[in-house]
Amino acid sequence: MNTIKIERHNRVVTVRLHRPHVLNALSGELMTELLDALRPLDADPEVGCFVVTGSEKVFAAGADIREMSGKSAVDMAAEDYFAGWEEFASFRTPRIAAVNGYALGGGCELVMMCDLVIAGESAVFGQPEIKLGVIPGIGGTQRLTRLVGRAKAMDLILTGRTMDAHEAERSGLVSRVVPDDRVLPTATEAAATVAAYGTPAVRAARECVDRALETGLTEGTLFERRVFHALFATEDQKEGMSAFLEKREPNFRGC
Ligand code: CAA
Repeated sequence: MNTIKIERHNRVVTVRLHRPHVLNALSGELMTELLDALRPLDADPEVGCFVVTGSEKVFAAGADIREMSGKSAVDMAAEDYFAGWEEFASFRTPRIAAVNGYALGGGCELVMMCDLVIAGESAVFGQPEIKLGVIPGIGGTQRLTRLVGRAKAMDLILTGRTMDAHEAERSGLVSRVVPDDRVLPTATEAAATVAAYGTPAVRAARECVDRALETGLTEGTLFERRVFHALFATEDQKEGMSAFLEKREPNFRGC
């Protein structure tokens, strides 16, 4: 692979974006390599969580401007440019973004497709596409608005300004801010924690939380309750509750 690096430790897979000469700009090749690498891992029951990260200096400075710049509207529509990223969003394995430095444009959009976001003090988030004469194209107008609200989303998208890690945390884009050198260790620890829980409950929890962004309260609460009921068909539910009552650690088997 030319554009990413993959490491696996037990149930946690870490994907490192690796195009240092262009600040990890998200090219078509990078997207294809990322999806091809993660697709089989997403289907592997022995994988419990992904960590997505960049370098110590930059997460990703956006989609690859050089690659896009010469394309026509017909090219973009014919290729359905960026459509592939929706596959990343649809993976069922939980994923944690570990962000140092710039997460701009498509980089910020990739962050927003993750479930937890661990940001270093140096992290910078933004959707500066307006400065290029375009708009966010990997869900930025939709996900950012749902995550931080209309006022902040309009501010970022219309002015192209960036926000630092603390503003991003206050706004609801970031889960935790930690010192830069703790970003990857913190994300990896969180990933190991998530990966150790029962897969049916983890998947159900993700789907229910994300459903809150798609539906009304009554429907969402009913969906949650039905999913809660269904988890009583799993061995992990019996194991988790028995372990609590027997004052021991549970041994979840993902079934
Ligand atoms: N695409 C392609 N190349 C990029 C890039 C990008 N998104 N971002 C940076 N690079 C390249 C630069 O062209 C430069 O290459 P050269 O050395 O060959 O000149 C190299 O990376 C280093 O960049 P800078 O010299 O600009 O580094 P800097 O530290 O001075 O500035 C930065 C850093 C503020 C992040 C600046 O690089 C920048 O503004 N990048 C573009 C950010 C942006 O507009 N992102 C949105 C892209 S469009 C998009 O993402 C659409 C979407 O919704 C998916």
